[in-house]
Amino acid sequence: MLKKFTFGTPIETEAVIFGEVITGSQESTPYFSIGLSGKDQEQAHVLTYRMGDHDIIYGLGENIRGINKRGWLYESNCTDDPKHTEDKHSLYAAHNFFLVDGKQRFGVFVDAPQKVTFDFGYSDRELMTVTVAHGGFALYILEGDNLRQMVKEFRHAIGRSYIPPKWAMGYGQSRWGYKNAEDIRRVVREHRDNQVPLDSVYMDIDYMERFKDFTVDEDKFPDFPQFVKEMQEQNIHLVPIIDAGVKIEEGYEVYEEGVEKGYFCKKEDGTEFVGGVWPGRVHFPDMLDEEARAWFGRKYQFLTDQGIDGFWNDMNEPALFYGEDHLKEVFHELNEYQKKELDIYSFFGLKATVLGVANYPEDYKTFYHNYRGERVRHDSVHNLYGYYMTRAAGEAFDKIEPDKRLLLYSRASYIGMHRYGGIWMGDNCSWWSHLLMNLQMLPGLNMCGFLYTGADLGGFGADTTEDLMLRWLELGIFTPLMRNHSAAGTRQQEFYQFGHREDFRNIIGLRYGFLPYLYGEFVKAAVTDDMMFLPLSFVYPEDETAAGVEDQLMAGESMMIAPVYKQNAAGRYVYLPEEMKLYRMRSTTSMDTEILPAGHHYVKAELNEVLVFLRPDHLVPFAKGGCNVEELKTSSVNLLHFVRTKASYDWYDDDGYTKNMDMEQGITRITAASDGAVTLSGRKQCDCRLI
Ligand code: GLC
Repeated sequence: MLKKFTFGTPIETEAVIFGEVITGSQESTPYFSIGLSGKDQEQAHVLTYRMGDHDIIYGLGENIRGINKRGWLYESNCTDDPKHTEDKHSLYAAHNFFLVDGKQRFGVFVDAPQKVTFDFGYSDRELMTVTVAHGGFALYILEGDNLRQMVKEFRHAIGRSYIPPKWAMGYGQSRWGYKNAEDIRRVVREHRDNQVPLDSVYMDIDYMERFKDFTVDEDKFPDFPQFVKEMQEQNIHLVPIIDAGVKIEEGYEVYEEGVEKGYFCKKEDGTEFVGGVWPGRVHFPDMLDEEARAWFGRKYQFLTDQGIDGFWNDMNEPALFYGEDHLKEVFHELNEYQKKELDIYSFFGLKATVLGVANYPEDYKTFYHNYRGERVRHDSVHNLYGYYMTRAAGEAFDKIEPDKRLLLYSRASYIGMHRYGGIWMGDNCSWWSHLLMNLQMLPGLNMCGFLYTGADLGGFGADTTEDLMLRWLELGIFTPLMRNHSAAGTRQQEFYQFGHREDFRNIIGLRYGFLPYLYGEFVKAAVTDDMMFLPLSFVYPEDETAAGVEDQLMAGESMMIAPVYKQNAAGRYVYLPEEMKLYRMRSTTSMDTEILPAGHHYVKAELNEVLVFLRPDHLVPFAKGGCNVEELKTSSVNLLHFVRTKASYDWYDDDGYTKNMDMEQGITRITAASDGAVTLSGRKQCDCRLI
C-alpha cells in the first residue's frame, strides 16, 4: 500500500489519482532522515538514505545512464537539451519514481512539480540524497517483496496508461525537413514501391505558416484536406507537430484570442511573458489554467476536422531560445564586451553569456500561472507544463472523438501525463551509445506509466550510417512507437538512402510479424498496470547475475530481446537466466532456431539478423506480414513457440480504435501441446500454426 507523507503545502499534480493511500506524519517517514538546506523562501528539503553495498536503483523514467541508476546525480527539471551525453543530469521529463532493491526493498515517488535532485551515490558512494527545491511536496513510499508487483501497485495509483490506436504501432517515417506535399508523397511512394511497410508520415514544423500552431501553409499544401484523404486512401496517417509557443502576430487568431481572453502566462506586472522559439517571439498558453487549457485543446480541431488523427506535442518544457527581457540585458552586456580586449576571463564570460541565453533558469522565475485559483510562479510548477499541454489535447480529443483513440505523444512530461499520451525520447544523436541508452530507458519509463514510447530510430542529431540505422531498427521493431526521425541538416536516413533495401524491407517487415503480440502485450500491460519491458531481475528475482544485466530486456510475457548495439559486431554476449529458444530472424519467413541452456553465450547476429529468445512453454503470435496495420491479417497467424510440456498464451486483440477494452471479449487463449496440437478458446476465429 502507498503511504503518503506531506512536507509543507504540496502543489497538487494529479499524478496519484486512485487507491487507498495511508497518510503518515513527516516525523514518521521511514528509510529517510530529513533535513533542510538553504534559507527562507529558497529552503529545500533534503532526504538521506544510507544504501547497502549492492543496492540497485531502478526507475526515474526518461533519463541518461543505465537501468541501474546508482552512481550519478539526476535532476528532474524538464530541459530542452539535445546533447544527451553521460555528463548531463536532466532530459525533458520529470519522472520521480524509483525502487531501491538490496539491503531493504522499497519504492519512492517524490510528487513535486518543482526541481528535484536525486544524488544516487554521486557525492558519496553509499549515500542517497534527494533534494526537493523550495516549497512543499508529497512523498509516497511503497513496500513489498516483489519489484514487478510494487510497480503494479504504483501504476494502479497513477491511473491507466494511454493506449494509442493500433495503426500507431506501425512504422512511421519522419524528418525535420519535409517541406511540402510532394516531399511526403515521395516518402510514401518509395516505401510502397519497395514493399517496405509504412503507416505514418510525420509533419514537422515546416508544414505550418511561419511556424504558427494550428495553421497549414497553403503554398506547400494546397487543398490540405484532399491531401490527407489521398494519404488515407493509401493507409497513411499524417501526424503533425504542435509546439507550445504561440507566435505573436497581429491578425493571427490564436494569438489574438489568447491575449483577449487572458490565456497566456503573465509576468509579475500583469503583461504577457515573451519568449523566443521557432516562430520568433511567442507567448505561452497557461496550460495549467483550466479554461486556457480547454481553449488550447479545442484548437486541435482545426486539424482533426481536416482528417488528422495523430499529433506530437513539442517544445513544451517549455523550451526557450531566449526570454525577451533577459535577451535585452545580454545585448547590453555584449555592447560592454565590445569595448574590451577579450582575454581568458572576458572571452569565456562572453561565451557563457551567449550560450546561457537559451533555457536561462532565471527566465523561468519571471512568469506565472493561474493554477487551481492561485497565482503560482512558473518554477514552482515547471515540470507540469508539458504534462498539462498534452492533457489539453487529450481532454479535447475525448470530446472531439469520443469513440476513437487518437495518437498523441509529447516531449516533456511528468507522471500523470501517461494517462493522456505517450512520449518519445527526444533529440538523441546518431551514436551507438544512444542505441543502448534508449534500450536502458524503456523499463524505467514503463515503471512510471509511459508505455507508448520509442526513440528517434537512427538518431536525430548527427549523421547516421547504414549499419547503425539497421541495428537501431532491430531494437525499434519492438518499441510501441517505431519512428525513424532525424534533424534538418543531418544525413538523410529514410531506408532508400542506403544500398541494401532488402535488409530494411525484411527488418521493418519483422515489426509487422510481431505486431499481434506487441499490440496485445501493450494493451494487457496498460489495462493491468503492468510493464511491457522489464529488467531481467523483475522476472528472475533470485538470479544475481540477471540483476546485473544492462543490455537485454524481457519484452512482454513470452520473450527476451538482446539487440546488437556495437558497430562491426557480428554477434554479442547474451545471458540466459533459464533455458530458452533462440529465434535468429532475417525476415518473417527466414529464421533459424536453437535451444540454448541457461548461462552465458556468444550468439552470432549478422547485420540483417534479429535475436529473439523465447521462454520455455511460451508462445508468440506472429503475423504473416502486410504493408500497413490495416492490411495485417490476424485471422491466420503463425506461432513462435518453445513448448516443453504445454504452452499457453492469452492473446489480446481488438479493432484498434475502441476505447473500452474488454479483456474477456478480446482475449483468445492459445494452447500448444508438445505434439504440436494447437487449440484456441475465446471469440476469435483464427488459424494458428506452429512454425
Ligand atoms: C525539436 C524536436 C524535434 C523536431 C525539431 C523541429 O528539436 O525535439 O523532434 O524535429 O524540434 O521541430
